[in-house]
Amino acid sequence: MNSTTDNSVPTVRTRADLLRQVAAWKRAGETVGFVPTMGALHGGHLSLVEKAREKASRVVVSIFVNPTQFAPGEDFDTYPRTEESDLQKLASVNADLAYLPGVEEMYPDGSLTNVRVESMSDLLDGLFRPHFFYGVATVVARLFLHAQPDVAVFGEKDYQQLQIIRRMVRDLGFPIEIIGAPTARDADGLAQSSRNLYLSAEERRNAGALQAALHRAAKRIGAGTLPSEALGEATALLASAGFGKIDYVSLVDPGTLQDLPDEVLAPGSAARLLGAAWMGKTRLIDNISVTR
Ligand code: PAF
Repeated sequence: MNSTTDNSVPTVRTRADLLRQVAAWKRAGETVGFVPTMGALHGGHLSLVEKAREKASRVVVSIFVNPTQFAPGEDFDTYPRTEESDLQKLASVNADLAYLPGVEEMYPDGSLTNVRVESMSDLLDGLFRPHFFYGVATVVARLFLHAQPDVAVFGEKDYQQLQIIRRMVRDLGFPIEIIGAPTARDADGLAQSSRNLYLSAEERRNAGALQAALHRAAKRIGAGTLPSEALGEATALLASAGFGKIDYVSLVDPGTLQDLPDEVLAPGSAARLLGAAWMGKTRLIDNISVTR
């Protein structure tokens, strides 16, 4: 383990060093919370660390920009890499350890084995980024094997990812409790995301409309408006706020992520409203729960 300065957090870079530290904690009767990230940490990530800290006596955060969840032409090469400031931020929320594996540590010898959570990975974001959730499930399964946590925390902002990880954990029997943490938002409601850094000042001013449109649609559906009508209005609001391509605005079953047609949403039932749209060259996603 590398001990760093007071305003940084200790780091390990290999699976063996991580396992050694985790095993020592477990021998001492401690529990381990885990927060996987791709770095470029913001308030949203730090709130996940705080949630993990409530659930476990030790908190490990991984930082790994996972190549298998980026398609050719996506932003893998330009994805912000800010290791030094990430480690300082992790120290500010008392994370115990940062795991910073390289590609060879995560995918030794290239690796031929992948994890696919079928059907749930092919809807919503999966329609627009077909490789994405396969890369996510594969790296998260590997990170779980490296970190062996008792609890792992994921943000509700990436709602489809959270549900896919829950399903993977259930299907494969990982002895890990998955916690979904509420989305951290800026003052205008924009969900905090590392990719918000890509927005120009004008785009940033308009981007809050995504949350506002979903919020309004959720309220209207809750009050009895037909989902198709509320979703149509949300799409129009996004277009008038300056969003270009609108990938989807969809109302789905909160567990299976299957589309909920108008006639299916019974009074008292819960649903999830998700949206993805492009502000300039930046793709933003958000979601909100709906109760009729
Ligand atoms: O949400 C993310 O940052 C990533 O998809 C994750 C879970 C760290 C896997 O690379």
